[in-house]
Amino acid sequence: MKFFLDTADVEEIRKAVGLGVCDGVTTNPTLIMKSGKDQKEAIKEICKIVDGPVSVEGIGETAEEMVKEAGEFSSWAENVVVKIPMTREGMKAVRLLSAKGTKTNVTLVFSASQALIAAKAGATYVSPFVGRLDDVSQDGMELVYSIMDIFCNYDFDTQVIVASIRHPMHVLDAAHSGAHIATVPAAVLDKLWAHPLTDKGIEKFKEHHEKHKKAIK
Ligand code: G3P
Repeated sequence: MKFFLDTADVEEIRKAVGLGVCDGVTTNPTLIMKSGKDQKEAIKEICKIVDGPVSVEGIGETAEEMVKEAGEFSSWAENVVVKIPMTREGMKAVRLLSAKGTKTNVTLVFSASQALIAAKAGATYVSPFVGRLDDVSQDGMELVYSIMDIFCNYDFDTQVIVASIRHPMHVLDAAHSGAHIATVPAAVLDKLWAHPLTDKGIEKFKEHHEKHKKAIK
């Protein structure tokens, strides 16, 4: 499973790239706002740091507006992927963009039927939002399992990005489901590394190493 970083914060991205756990990046208008930077400036900087796909989201509502925005985003860097919302106009845009070879990430997916429609439209990626479903008492990961079943049945090329991840269990469940990608906030990524018994074990081994050194002097 690939790890994308769900952030527009360049420092967080640099850190994850340094640790070898950043296969791509996803952004949205909220994350760009949090970065405090202009969207174009932020995306260009991120695309220089990350080799993998970098998702960029616009605010167009008609297919025509979305395709126009996609043209601009794609001119910023080669690894830009255009995020398109799961609407009828969005799916028209996905068809047009897919025919031109522009990679798309269909976002705000909350049902398996939406994912199926997006795959049939030729989306490169679909992003089910698991955390936001959990927030309204629906099991977000159930949706991911259901999408994976459908995509396997028909051998769709569309890849599933588990998005709106809130905690490490979402990441593990994504891995169990066979989802292609989890897009993870930096704070959640940090938690994947840690275990108190690892720290305790290192401390104990160090203590015994010192003790043994003194004993055999
Ligand atoms: O990738 C989409 C994601 O950023 C949405 O996350 O936490 O705002 O639901 P959240």
